[in-house]
Amino acid sequence: MYIYVDDLWVILHGKVYDLTYFLPEHPGGQKIILKYAGKDATSAFEPIHPIDIITRLLPAEVCMGSIDPAALKGATKEESEEDKLIRIAREKMPRLEEMYNSFDFESVAKRVMKPDAWAYYSSGADDEISMRENHNAFHRIWLRPRVMVDVKHVDMSTTMLGCPASFPLYITATALGKLGHPEGEKVLTRAAGKTGIIQMIPTLASCSFDEMVDARLDKQNQWLQLYVNEDRNITKHLVQHAEARGIKGLFITADAPQLGRREKDMRQKYANEAPDEITRSEMSMTRNEGAARAISTFIDPALNWSDIPWFQSITKMPILIKGVQCAEDAVLAAKYGCQGVVLSNHGGRQLDFAPSSIEILAEVMETLKREGLDKNFEVYIDGGIRRGSDIFKAIALGAKGVGIGRPALFAMSSYGDAGVERLISLFQNELEMCMRLMGTPTIKDIKPEMVDIRNIKDHFVANPTDYLAAGAYERMQPRGGIISKL
Ligand SMILES: Cc1cc2nc3c(=O)[nH]c(=O)nc-3n(C[C@H](O)[C@H](O)[C@H](O)COP(=O)(O)O)c2cc1C
Repeated sequence: MYIYVDDLWVILHGKVYDLTYFLPEHPGGQKIILKYAGKDATSAFEPIHPIDIITRLLPAEVCMGSIDPAALKGATKEESEEDKLIRIAREKMPRLEEMYNSFDFESVAKRVMKPDAWAYYSSGADDEISMRENHNAFHRIWLRPRVMVDVKHVDMSTTMLGCPASFPLYITATALGKLGHPEGEKVLTRAAGKTGIIQMIPTLASCSFDEMVDARLDKQNQWLQLYVNEDRNITKHLVQHAEARGIKGLFITADAPQLGRREKDMRQKYANEAPDEITRSEMSMTRNEGAARAISTFIDPALNWSDIPWFQSITKMPILIKGVQCAEDAVLAAKYGCQGVVLSNHGGRQLDFAPSSIEILAEVMETLKREGLDKNFEVYIDGGIRRGSDIFKAIALGAKGVGIGRPALFAMSSYGDAGVERLISLFQNELEMCMRLMGTPTIKDIKPEMVDIRNIKDHFVANPTDYLAAGAYERMQPRGGIISKL
């Protein structure tokens, strides 16, 4: 329903914007703009919009001028109950040195993150079966260590798409970094730079693309994850700008022609925005959307293999398809001249019951080899990588490298730069120990026969945990429930 409003302005970053005519077109719906009409909307705007979005997409006239920050100070609200609980939880956080693995960061993040941010980052599609399977599948792969090998020095360094990396791990693309940390994805850029790993920049970052590129160190390498816009000119501009700014690989996300149903995220949106009189009818249309859907309406569901030559005509960057979920599509990617694929089910956020990437890795490698397509073609995986031994298993089965999504977000949200750096060094230490105990002093010593994958296809779903009841709903309890238990 369109609500007629004849004068609507909001304050963003100290400037007043007239959004009267933009209101019906706002991809995230009218309700959120109406909620902040006549007020400072910066805190709601910032996590889900890059800073330059207004100047890029709206006419200059919408900016009515600046507002004196002193005038805004008086209007500053008291600390909300939710913020208070988070502040108390943060005061009780364990010291960073007490974080010993990626799961530790997750459990702290759950307690100190804002409920809507936690819901967005942690959610998976539907019953979250694929999301949990992603890590569980690693438990079905056992190791076959070799002894009496000189492992005094272990060298984990490698190259991915020709970019040097301290070890075969990269931070993959995840949207909306500012939900978890005021500086958003720049935290991930800096931590990747300091630890010598690659960062994949997301299309839907909270920071602008240039902010993330400007935050990198000399010689630090970045890739770009691309959501393809229905308006190909926008996509072309982004791709060519990325190439001009030194991005070393283009990863086209192919598993999201429609965003998955992440119910935890949807419910959180509903809980946060209780309907009021003006917008009740609009809420009935959008209340099921959640943060994910609100930001992704532009993604072109018509994207298909015949678009690949067009991408090849607009860029010389290596092109990889992110979100491949079976061997046939890996073969097609190679036949269309792509430089690789990321086997991924989007962290279990898209199609529930899509297989884990580690499960299909071996058959993908075997098929590519059989078809003679495995040369100059790099296969990456992401989803559920939580231990150094997970990295080892993926490399053994033929992956060139692995991506982490949520672990980096959780470390960033709880401990900022230092948290992400510690997380990466924990992964690195775990991989080093695993390589030493496996008798593999370098990455190229890691071989398929070192892992036992005979059980990989066994999916016993005996009696799945009632995940929603156990996890997602507990945040919906009256204030003071979960957070204050810390
Ligand atoms: C909060 C969040 C946001 C994500 N946003 C994107 C995105 O914008 N584009 C994309 O291709 N993948 C996105 N992904 C998927 C990740 O790139 C990756 O496939 C997944 O997180 C890997 O699983 P993991 O979180 O278990 O490491 C997102 C994942 C999460 C958790």
